[in-house]
Amino acid sequence: MTMSRSSTSVLVFVLVIALLLACSADALKIISVDNGQVQGTWGKLEICPDGSSAIGYQTQNDLLDVPLHDKSALNSIRLFCNDTQGTNVTSTLGDTGTWELRQNCPRGESLSSFRLRVQPFDSASSDNTAVNSIQFNCTDGSLLNFNGNTAGNWGEFSADQCETGICGLETRVLPLGGTLTDNTALNDVDFICC
Ligand SMILES: *[C@@H]1O[C@H](CO)[C@@H](O)[C@H](O)[C@H]1NC(C)=O
Ligand SMILES: *[C@@H]1O[C@H](CO)[C@@H](O)[C@H](O)[C@H]1NC(C)=O
Ligand SMILES: *[C@@H]1O[C@H](CO)[C@@H](O)[C@H](O)[C@H]1NC(C)=O
Repeated sequence: MTMSRSSTSVLVFVLVIALLLACSADALKIISVDNGQVQGTWGKLEICPDGSSAIGYQTQNDLLDVPLHDKSALNSIRLFCNDTQGTNVTSTLGDTGTWELRQNCPRGESLSSFRLRVQPFDSASSDNTAVNSIQFNCTDGSLLNFNGNTAGNWGEFSADQCETGICGLETRVLPLGGTLTDNTALNDVDFICC
């Protein structure tokens, strides 16, 4: 049996579309949580060098908690890749706070899922802080935790996880504004699977 020219081209077309969908789904698996906040803009996606994955992280937290200080809690997240250079990726950084201790997955494991501790936006409050802290699970299920800031509540872990590791991130950050701005710094983050 021979196929007509038109049914052959339809078949080729369908195969190409299927392949494109499979590749794009493969290229960008994103994991996210639903308690992120919406101030600021999404930064650029930063990804570990080819063949490497994120095996540890550190956060920058504004830990100052005194009257009249406009707290912004979690400002920045830095992922450490396991390429030979030990590259780090951050997407948009916040402007204040101190870099906390690096947390590492057990040897041979990578970051795979996360959850956020968030103080939900309250229009009646003049000092919102948005994201306060982050925890990661590694590919072996172990938990990485640095206390960070403690306002708000922990949300659910990302419904999806990166079975072969997290390879990059994109942060949503409200940049430092003028003296009349209620600064919240990091509002949300998405991670990209390897
Ligand atoms: C992160 O990478 C930058 C270069 O991109 C480097 O200057 C900096 O020292 C690194 N930070 C850490 C904590 O490794
Ligand atoms: C990085 O870690 C992952 C997960 O442990 C591993 O599969 C990969 O081979 C490592 N890459 C390098 C360059 O060490
Ligand atoms: C992540 O770690 C938490 C705390 O140990 C655990 O309850 C949860 O099941 C882990 N999730 C995954 C996907 O490993």
